[in-house]
Amino acid sequence: MAELLKVMNINKRFGGIVAVKDVSFEIHRGETLGFIGPNGAGKSTIVNLLSGLFPADSGEVELDGVNITKMKPYQRAHLGMARTYQIPRPFPELTALASVATSALCGKKRKNQSLEDAAVEATHYLEFVGLFSKRNILARDLTFYELRMLELARALATTPKLLFIDEVMAGLNPGEASHAIQMIGRAKEQFGVTVFWIEHVMAVLMEAADRIVAINYGAKLAEGTPEEVVNNEDVIEAYLGRGWRTYA
Ligand SMILES: Nc1ncnc2c1ncn2[C@@H]1O[C@H](COP(=O)(O)OP(=O)(O)O)[C@@H](O)[C@H]1O
Ligand SMILES: [Mg+2]
Repeated sequence: MAELLKVMNINKRFGGIVAVKDVSFEIHRGETLGFIGPNGAGKSTIVNLLSGLFPADSGEVELDGVNITKMKPYQRAHLGMARTYQIPRPFPELTALASVATSALCGKKRKNQSLEDAAVEATHYLEFVGLFSKRNILARDLTFYELRMLELARALATTPKLLFIDEVMAGLNPGEASHAIQMIGRAKEQFGVTVFWIEHVMAVLMEAADRIVAINYGAKLAEGTPEEVVNNEDVIEAYLGRGWRTYA
């Protein structure tokens, strides 16, 4: 089965706002799927629906052929889904090590793991994202960039098959952003994760994505290779404009 995740006609309203409108797409095993659209288009809401943070009003989602539509976030995590948040959501009073160890304990293959084992694993993920020297610092004392990396370490520590990245570059300076992008590439290589990646800087997804899905006003606008999507008239009209290559 080529598709790892199958999203079928999902819908979500918040009061009078239709945030997600009949969206369907697939994520293929091993790929990086870029996800783009203007602010307020519904990108984060889709990640929230797919990770189970809140339920869809209608529609179905399958992971590896299993219908997960009604599952809780922790059940989806056990099946191999992990995410990062656009705005980091740390446990402020836990150290970096304890934060990542908590994820290691919650991961899909980790049901009977000891605390010591979880801490050892957490150390590896902290090393991976470059936070080993910060392992004993409380999350509330980390910088924004370090919190971003902590989010990534926490997600990877659950040993996901499918990783949702909601804007890894936002709020970072250019050096930090380029390091964050490299980390995602390395996470793919080292851990074999499939990646769903929301990002505003088109040049980054042109480089990193195998395919791109574009949405606008909660509805799917286009889907295809990066070249196809950036040349799609509806995407240019709604989101990219014509000059994006020159200032990307
Ligand atoms: N929890 C929520 N409660 C109410 N409205 C929300 C909530 N989350 C998102 N929205 C609304 O849904 C729309 C899509 O938002 P969002 O998914 O955050 O867009 P994007 O990530 O593409 O910028 C926006 O109009 C936003 O205000
Ligand atoms: Mg968002």
